[in-house]
Amino acid sequence: MEYSGMALRVSLFLICVLYYVHGDLSYSVQEEMKRGSVIGNIAKDLGLEVGILSIRKARIKTVGSERRKYCDINLRTGDLIVAERIDRESLCGEKHSCVVKFELLFEAPLELHRITVQIQDINDNAPTFPKDIIKFEITESADKGARYRVNAAHDADIGQNGVQSYTLKRNDHFVFNIQTSSDGTKYGELVLEKELDREEQKEIKLLLSALDGGSPQRSGIVAIDVTVLDANDNAPVFSQAVYEASLPENTQIKTPVITVSATDADEGVNGEVIYGLGRVSDKSRKLFSLDRETGNIFVAGDIDFEEGSKYEIIIQAKDGFGISSDAKIIISITDVNDNAPVIVLKSLSNPVPENASPGTEVGLINVQDRDSEKNRKVRCSLQQHVPFKLIPSIKNYYSLVTTEKLDRELVSEYNITISAKDEGSPPLSSVKVVHISIADVNDNPPVFEDQSYSSYIPENNKPGHSLCSVKAHDPDWRQNGTVIYSLLPGEVNGAPVSSYLSVNGDTGVIQSVRSFDYEQLMSFKVDNAWLSYHIIKSTDPGIFKIDLHSGEIRTQRDISDSDNMKQNILVAEKAQTVI
Ligand SMILES: *[C@@H]1O[C@H](CO)[C@@H](O)[C@H](O)[C@H]1NC(C)=O
Ligand SMILES: *[C@@H]1O[C@H](CO)[C@@H](O)[C@H](O)[C@H]1NC(C)=O
Repeated sequence: MEYSGMALRVSLFLICVLYYVHGDLSYSVQEEMKRGSVIGNIAKDLGLEVGILSIRKARIKTVGSERRKYCDINLRTGDLIVAERIDRESLCGEKHSCVVKFELLFEAPLELHRITVQIQDINDNAPTFPKDIIKFEITESADKGARYRVNAAHDADIGQNGVQSYTLKRNDHFVFNIQTSSDGTKYGELVLEKELDREEQKEIKLLLSALDGGSPQRSGIVAIDVTVLDANDNAPVFSQAVYEASLPENTQIKTPVITVSATDADEGVNGEVIYGLGRVSDKSRKLFSLDRETGNIFVAGDIDFEEGSKYEIIIQAKDGFGISSDAKIIISITDVNDNAPVIVLKSLSNPVPENASPGTEVGLINVQDRDSEKNRKVRCSLQQHVPFKLIPSIKNYYSLVTTEKLDRELVSEYNITISAKDEGSPPLSSVKVVHISIADVNDNPPVFEDQSYSSYIPENNKPGHSLCSVKAHDPDWRQNGTVIYSLLPGEVNGAPVSSYLSVNGDTGVIQSVRSFDYEQLMSFKVDNAWLSYHIIKSTDPGIFKIDLHSGEIRTQRDISDSDNMKQNILVAEKAQTVI
């Protein structure tokens, strides 16, 4: 009974000891306080004499941590003191409430108290970014408003001591926004406010700061390096919109003419320029060649000023992706005196009658030179000592006219040399020989070799006896120079001459027709003769003239209205005796 009573008491006591837990003590302390800093006074808070603490061997044990002590009790003073560094961040991380629990034990009798110490945050951590440098590669073609995510800064502290705001150092292109994703995490983003241009700025360096709300305020900073990537947004640009070159004709093949040059501000393939021919005439394509890589233009064909004096070529510069631009090349060809004048006989009245009056136009000559300016100015001349001259007419025409009377019997043909010379340097010239023959006009009478012929024959001759032979010459041509002999009518002793003599018309041999009797006829004369014509009387002596030998009547001057309508001319025909 006794024992059982004892046992019950003991067990009750034990239960009382084990479960008799006095009310909690709670304190609050800032993290990072120095060792020995006083958190509160336990003896006072429990209403105990200070001396009791050491008598009852009071001690503190951290709940759940074997090694860490954090707090202790000063048995002499009854103070709860900081025993080692308390770092809220390592104890509680991001938890908003950071509480460390202790047990306070007394012996004799055994007694347990719970102590909770609230650890208060101090701003001992600065915001930090996950990396020191954030690198972005952004194409220059990115549109305004494009967003680039930046991981938020982290601050181990909590509440106001955590990250509160961000500032992006002023720059031309980006602003910074904070966004909250659907799961509540925060992130930042760079927003493109003004388009990029690699050709203007290849790299942009930004500084982003994260600020907390503690006091003093702490900040973290990150560099954001933006590399602007090339987009093929630039066409090649020629150094000139129009290139001009001048080239003498006949320039040798492969001679360089001009070099065009275009640059492209883009990078790599985007900026590699090759050249090509744009709009080009077939003719230009044959005459000029282009080096696609260097932009050099060469002569590739026969450059002839006379075929073309100006060429326009459109050149294209293309970058690696085919963006192109154009420039114009104007090539002027200068003339070289490479064409001799050409003399063309446009018309010629050939033969020219020998009676053509001085100043008669016998031919028309044209002179051409395919060159230009001075090189095509041509002087035309005729050799000297010929009865012809050139009279300049319209443009490059010349009349070939006679300068004096011609005489076929003196000169029957002319080979006249016309020369033409241009004013180029050196000058070029050419000659043309024009053959002119002179046509006959019957302007010479036959002339007997002798003034008179005498012949003696014995009487009683036989009829048909050859007495003599007469000979006359006429220098005219063919029938105009052919002499026919005849006897003029006349009488001898009352009988016609023809009853005594006859003459062979072709040969001029004179024969007797009958037998002569010396006693009747000692001698007689006959006349061979030519006819001559004279104007004896005319209404107006100044108008007409007559050819002495042919009897042809011509006017001597123009007939005008004042002259008589009717003109009477009396012509005498005279036979002159030669023999
Ligand atoms: C003119 O030229 C022709 C042809 O060359 C030649 O036969 C002729 O004899 C020349 N005449 C004169 C008068 O030189
Ligand atoms: C002879 O002269 C005349 C003019 O008097 C001329 O018309 C004719 O053609 C000439 N005959 C010859 C063969 O030259």
